[in-house]
Amino acid sequence: MKRIGMLTSGGDCQALNAAMRGVVKTLDNSKEEVEIYGFLDGYKGLIYGKFQMLTGRDFSGILTKGGTILGTSRTPFKTINDPDENGLNKVEAMKQNYYKLQLDCLVILGGNGTHKTANLLSKEGLNVVTLPKTIDNDLWGTDMTFGFQSAVNIATDAIDYIHTTAASHARVFIVEIMGHKVGWLPLNAGMAGGADIILIPEIPYDIDKVIDKIEERDKRGSRFTIIAVAEGAISKEDAKLSKKDYKKKLEKQVHPSVSYEIAAAIQEKTGREVRVTVPGHMQRGGSPCPYDRVFASRLGSEAGKLILEGQYGFMVGYKNREIVKVPLEDVAGKLKTLDPEATIIQEAKMLGICFGD
Ligand code: F6P
Repeated sequence: MKRIGMLTSGGDCQALNAAMRGVVKTLDNSKEEVEIYGFLDGYKGLIYGKFQMLTGRDFSGILTKGGTILGTSRTPFKTINDPDENGLNKVEAMKQNYYKLQLDCLVILGGNGTHKTANLLSKEGLNVVTLPKTIDNDLWGTDMTFGFQSAVNIATDAIDYIHTTAASHARVFIVEIMGHKVGWLPLNAGMAGGADIILIPEIPYDIDKVIDKIEERDKRGSRFTIIAVAEGAISKEDAKLSKKDYKKKLEKQVHPSVSYEIAAAIQEKTGREVRVTVPGHMQRGGSPCPYDRVFASRLGSEAGKLILEGQYGFMVGYKNREIVKVPLEDVAGKLKTLDPEATIIQEAKMLGICFGD
């Protein structure tokens, strides 16, 4: 008999349910008897002992369902060692619930912050297996996270829709794309949607270079320009600021986001009509794309295998087209950013895409 605790933590994404289904189906199809404890709303469920007993049937019919059947929340790692408002030690509370329920292991699905806490729990002696979720694709130790491809599809659709209206009105359009502090999602959606300019955090932009590209397109007779802007895009001047000064600048910022700041600068310097579209959380919503359904199911089933073999302390990841197990301590606290010299960026540049550098 194996007693498995399962939780989803951090921002949701597509294919969380598909991944959990993969784990449970694999366990169910083995000779091992299993009990599943589904902790609700992320680490909060484990801290406060809020869980539901689940069976294989609860994971049936959820392959295509977006979101997470367990609910999720953000429990920042930064304050994980601080007592809660009632003085409760959160890490001790998680350990106590784990031991009280006599769990054999925890299956944790999450992104960067989630992995820091998962690693901490593993170091504290709990058996942990994790799965890499996030639309940002910024998790170290895996070439791909599930949720990413689904979000690329949605962000690409957004750019596709903007294309037709931008062409009709001869406007400059900015589509702001999620991705937190990295550019995987804006780069891929931008290329897939045929954006003329893509601005990502890893390549700080010069607004004059962006304007040069718009004017060059004007001269060539292109009536419109599409700019895919990462929510974390940063100008060359801002990139030179210390973290503290940049934070101060953002506090005084009159624009709701970097896209609006860029739009205002273009409008002021060129007199062109600029519009901003922010698809926002739509990018995390809806059902997973077929790629993510297969990918998350594969990762989930490999996690099930690790549990059956009693191998703990790993994230199930994907490297060089192989499913791999990566030690949690190698994953935790590292961000997988895009290399500005990566071949995909060079290829995008050869295609004429401007990065504002
Ligand atoms: O990490 C996923 C993500 O959607 C990022 O792309 C984005 O910056 C952030 O989460 C938004 O967080 P929240 O849902 O808490 O507003």
